[in-house]
Amino acid sequence: SLLCALGAVIAYLIGSLSFAVIVSRLFGLADPRTYGSGNPGATNVLRSGNKGAAILTLLFDALKGYVPVAVAYQLGLSELVVTVVGLGAFIGHLWPVFFRFEGGKGVATAAGVLLGFAPALGGLVLLVWVVVAAVFRYSSLAALVAAVSAPAIQVWGWGQGPMTAGVILMSALLIWRHAANIRKLLNGQESKLGQKAAPPK
Ligand code: G3P
Repeated sequence: SLLCALGAVIAYLIGSLSFAVIVSRLFGLADPRTYGSGNPGATNVLRSGNKGAAILTLLFDALKGYVPVAVAYQLGLSELVVTVVGLGAFIGHLWPVFFRFEGGKGVATAAGVLLGFAPALGGLVLLVWVVVAAVFRYSSLAALVAAVSAPAIQVWGWGQGPMTAGVILMSALLIWRHAANIRKLLNGQESKLGQKAAPPK
C-alpha cells in the first residue's frame, strides 16, 4: 500500500544518516572510512581511541532503527508494514543515499530494529552479542553469532510471521556484509574490540 511505501522511504532516509561519519565530523575525528576496517560503524570509530564518539555512534545508529519501528507500531500499522519500515532503516544504513551508498554492516541498526519489533527479542539478541563479545573480544564474531541466533529466537518467542522474514533478511545481509571479517577471523587477523587502528595516512 501507499502507507507501506511511504513508511519504507522515510525509514530508509533516516537509516541513511551514517552516524559514524556524522559523529566523527562533530568530534573533529578522521572519517572512519579512512582507517581501521574502513567501516562506518561504532566498532571502527572505537579504533580512533575516542570512546564517547563510539558510544554516540552506537546509540544513534541503534535509535535510527528503533524509532521508525516504534512510531509505525504507535500508528497501529500491521506487522507487515512495521517489518518493512524496519527493513527500510536497515537498508538505509547499508546503502545510505547521503553517503554515496557506502554504508556500514548494520549491527547497531539491526539491534534497534529488533528492540522496536519486541524489546525482549532485541534484548535477548543483544545478550548473545554481549556474551560472545565478553568471551572472545571480537565485535564482528559477536555480531555474526547474534545474527545467526536472531531468527531462531524470533520464531521461538513470537512464532512465524512477516517479522520472521524481516529478521532472516536482516541477518543474511548482515552476515554477507561481514565477509571480510569472516576471512580475518579465520586467518587470525581480526582486531580485538577496542584495539586502536593505525592513524590514517
Ligand atoms: O559494527 C560492525 C562490526 O561487527 C564489525 O566492524 O569495523 O570490525 O569491520 P569492523
